[in-house]
Amino acid sequence: MPFKVNLRPFAETDYPAIAQLLNAAWPDEVHSEARLRENDLHAPEIRWGRFVAEVDQRIVGVGEYTQHEGMYHPQKFALGITVHPEFRGQGIGKALYQRVMEALAPYDPISLLCSTREDQARALVWLKKLGFVEKMRYWESRLEVQRFDFTPYTGKIEAVEAAGFALKSLKELEDDPDYRQKAYDLWLEARLDVPRPEAISEVPFEDYCRWVFGSRYYWPEGYLVAVDQRSGQYVAMSTLWKTDGDYLYTGLTGTRRAYRRKGLALALKLRAIALAKATGAREIRTGNEVGNRAMLAINEALGFVKQPAWIDWVKKLGAE
Ligand SMILES: CC(C)(COP(=O)(O)OP(=O)(O)OC[C@H]1O[C@@H](n2cnc3c(N)ncnc32)[C@H](O)[C@@H]1OP(=O)(O)O)[C@@H](O)C(=O)NCCC(=O)NCCS
Repeated sequence: MPFKVNLRPFAETDYPAIAQLLNAAWPDEVHSEARLRENDLHAPEIRWGRFVAEVDQRIVGVGEYTQHEGMYHPQKFALGITVHPEFRGQGIGKALYQRVMEALAPYDPISLLCSTREDQARALVWLKKLGFVEKMRYWESRLEVQRFDFTPYTGKIEAVEAAGFALKSLKELEDDPDYRQKAYDLWLEARLDVPRPEAISEVPFEDYCRWVFGSRYYWPEGYLVAVDQRSGQYVAMSTLWKTDGDYLYTGLTGTRRAYRRKGLALALKLRAIALAKATGAREIRTGNEVGNRAMLAINEALGFVKQPAWIDWVKKLGAE
């Protein structure tokens, strides 16, 4: 190495430098100190830690371990290693990986999950060398909102309304004292069929509320649900989240199993696009597992454009 690298544990004051580093590594995404701080608000059982690599007191790499709250297992971890593009290929990533693994050892990890994008040739080789195996792929897809033409979809929203469903935002439902519980109940069912790299785990109501209503990116007008007018039950959802950039992000779109193929997801997404257009957003981004035909069919029909795929890699260290 032509320069001296110093590895040290993360400190609270590192947030701005880490955001800067992530913006350099992923120039088409906006990473902010606020987002990093929010991501670090974990449930108490979650074990996480972070280390930074410095050259001349400048942060040039970050390595961390954490656990996924919706796929929780006490011995399963997610890793993230990022090295500034100008400092790659010099062993900094490997050093960070080793430091993270040392920190993880006391927890006796049985499985590690790491993600990168298919256009990151070096990272793909690096992960394979470390013994990671590809588990799952997701396309991020993007829609240019202001150019969206609603003409081919004329009557789609009216049709679901005529069938007895009201399309509402949580903002419009806030007067119901149970709206959070109803939104949670719907989310519990909608998440069951979402493809994921590890087994799903339970998420208590309090954690759901923290993720949604406690998030600075929550947008009550953009969290849309279809309400069955006969029962009052929330039966389908599609959520738009704010970001720190000029784009919005679609979180979960999901329909209760008994209500699928009635046009509800499509109608909610059309409503979401109209809302995004009215607020002047440039783009909507979303992510879908490459085998999720139902969701992809809708996004493809709406004109979302696929980007290079994100890949989840898993390294097994022990038996379940
Ligand atoms: C994806 C999902 C939200 C679709 O909800 P839905 O309300 O059934 O979808 P819609 O009725 O609006 O479908 C509109 C059109 O999309 C296409 N489509 C929907 N489901 C499809 C499927 N399983 N296979 C192929 N095409 C499908 C069809 O063209 C359909 O129109 P049609 O029924 O007239 O043929 C639903 O399957 C679901 O909840 N899946 C689990 C959650 C999930 O994986 N969400 C995405 C996570 S990123």
